[in-house]
Amino acid sequence: MLKFVKSLATAALLSVVTLSGANAAGASVDLKSVDWQHTGLFGTYDRAAAQRGLQVYREVCAGCHGLNLVAFRTLTDLGFTEDEVKALSAEYTFVDGPNDDGDMYERPGKPFDKFPDPFPNEKAARASNGGAYPPDLSLIVKARPGFENYLYSLMVGYVDPPANFELNPGMNYNAYFAGHQIAMPAPLSEDAVEYADGTPATVDQMAKDLTVFLAWAAEPKLEDRKHMGLRVILFLLIMTGIFFAAKRKIWADVH
Ligand code: HEC
Repeated sequence: MLKFVKSLATAALLSVVTLSGANAAGASVDLKSVDWQHTGLFGTYDRAAAQRGLQVYREVCAGCHGLNLVAFRTLTDLGFTEDEVKALSAEYTFVDGPNDDGDMYERPGKPFDKFPDPFPNEKAARASNGGAYPPDLSLIVKARPGFENYLYSLMVGYVDPPANFELNPGMNYNAYFAGHQIAMPAPLSEDAVEYADGTPATVDQMAKDLTVFLAWAAEPKLEDRKHMGLRVILFLLIMTGIFFAAKRKIWADVH
């Protein structure tokens, strides 16, 4: 028993140490901080921003990064109609099969398909990117310390390197990437997309929109989770009241 308690305590201590270590690594540079609409207690995703972010992903990032946990049909969560989702998925081509003759064939995408990977495999991805691997972006917002603020900072963090900084060939300076040398060239530039809703496509705007979209991709059920949390707390409050009243009644005659 004692041994068990001891190992439990060690595990707890270790996790505290590693957690604070991870934070320390992430906090070595102060990230730019944005007041995201969806991060508060009652927060919901800014649908218009997320729709614009999808446009940026499709037109700028999808050439190198997959989003292979996100099915087209889930885009209705962001306010797209089923017809819009059908049309959007049909713009992609998927290899399916084998058919009755044993051949693979190509077909247009369907709402149940997921965003396809831009490269056939990791080696092909690395070969096209100077040896570096562009990670799938489905969970990227959750996968780095700093979350939304990290992604946003990374997108706007391409600045001139300090005078004494030695940049390796083929690398780019980014103020927020660990070690400051990143193989990804600055993906966003002024007016890289022309927004369907007429919003001016500044780098800052695109970085914010993209972050909202990828935050949604990483946690599409965030709003349900928050609502459920509130209902549970309300339930517990009411039950506390009822039990308190019951306790007073039961013990009323005991002096
Ligand atoms: C030309 C290809 C290319 C394009 C376009 C591109 N990326 Fe990348 N991206 C890469 C490569 C390569 C890496 C790996 C960089 C490294 O490890 O040094 C990367 C890494 C990343 C990372 C991970 C950084 C980290 O902390 O590890 C994120 C996030 C990212 N890209 C987001 C985006 C977004 C968002 C877009 C669109 C606005 C985009 N990328 C467009 C090639 C690309």
